[in-house]
Formats: sequence, structure tokens, C-alpha cells
Amino acid sequence: MSKLVIANFKMNGSKEFIANWVKDFHEENESNKTIILALPSPYLSNFKDSYLNLAGQNVSNQSSGAFTSQLSAQMLKDCGAEYCLIGHSEARQYLMETNENIKQKFDQLAQESIQQVLCIGEPLVIKEASKTTDYLLEQLELLSSDQENIIVAYEPIWAIGTGLTPEIEDIQLAVDCIRGRFNKSIKVLYGGSVNSSNAANISAKTDIDGLLVGGASLNPKEFAKIAQLC
Ligand code: PGA
Repeated sequence: MSKLVIANFKMNGSKEFIANWVKDFHEENESNKTIILALPSPYLSNFKDSYLNLAGQNVSNQSSGAFTSQLSAQMLKDCGAEYCLIGHSEARQYLMETNENIKQKFDQLAQESIQQVLCIGEPLVIKEASKTTDYLLEQLELLSSDQENIIVAYEPIWAIGTGLTPEIEDIQLAVDCIRGRFNKSIKVLYGGSVNSSNAANISAKTDIDGLLVGGASLNPKEFAKIAQLC
């Protein structure tokens, strides 16, 4: 099955930047991977009819109503999102999201048949205390062990945007822990300082189903290389 490679633009880019990115990426991309673009929401609908798969970066835990500033799953769907990140550590940190909120978001997306990409990962203190797997299992408590069709992205917080990546064995340990939590087969991605120098190694030496790429995805050539190497 084709691996998934997600570009998480975070709060970067502009209409012009993204249009150029899409053109340049199209010229460079030689991979047969499933490419997913998690764009800032205002730009999603501009690329609704393009060859790309689109993802939202977050969603409301409510379906509609007096929730100024929020976006519902239905709105994301209207704009072309087939996937949506939830539980990204930056949303957990800056928007004070809890596991309970994230479970509600998960359910909102399910109602619109948007594929959830649940991001989990430990902070440095937990890693240093060798408690990573306990921490990941706690973050996964929101899902039933019979959950199907879920994509989990393992993103150690201390690896995001820092240039640091875990040892290969530690990625595989986390991936095994995540897979082992479910009765059915699920997809597990790795994210955190992925670039074209480490993508091949991470991909070849673990059994991940793909990569979630932040900073390095903003350069279309670099992202095309990562997709090729994954
Ligand atoms: P990074 O971000 O690749 O810049 O570390 C990954 C992410 O936050 O999804």
C-alpha cells in the first residue's frame, strides 16, 4: 500500500506562495506516495479541485453554533478536506486542548467521513524518565481498542522543529506500542524534524506507514525528495 506523506504548513504561506508550491511540487514529484497537504484553512478551497489530497489542521469539537472563530467538520469538508489533523502538540499547548476535546473532534470528523490523523507524542521530561509508552497509551485512551481506519502520527514534542530525532529503535518502540493498542491494523506515521537527510533511514528501518513533515515541507523540492525517499 502506498505510504502517506503529509505536508503540515502550520501557519505559513500565502495564496501566491501555495500556488507556486503546488506548481513546483508537481514538476519535482516522482513518487507514487499519497501526498496530503495540511494547508491553513482559508486556502483549502483554492486547491479543492487540484490533484492534491487536502487536510485541515484542526477542527471544532462542536458541529455548529455560537463558537466564534471555530471551523466545523462540515465546513472543512465543503472546502475539500478529506483528512484532518487533531491533537497536534501545538494545538494542545496553545489552544489548551484536552484529550476530551480531541475525542469530540474525532467524532465530529467521523460524522463527515473526514479521515482523522491523531497526533500524539511525549515531552522531553517524559522521554528522559523513560515513560514514553505509558504516556502514549494515556493519549490513546480516547479511542476504543476496536477502532478501525485510524491514522496515528507519532510526533515526540521535543523533536518538532528542533532538528532532533529519536533513535530508530525508539521510533519503532513507539510505533509497536501504538499498533499494539488496537485490535485492528492501523496506520502509524512519524513526524518531528523529518528532512531529506533522515527520511530514507527512518522509513527503511521502521515499519511506519508514512511521514508528517512540518518545516521541511515548505520547500517543494525538499518535500518532493522526502516523498521519494519515504
Ligand atoms: P517539523 O514539524 O517537521 O517542523 O518538526 C512536524 C509537525 O509539527 O507536524
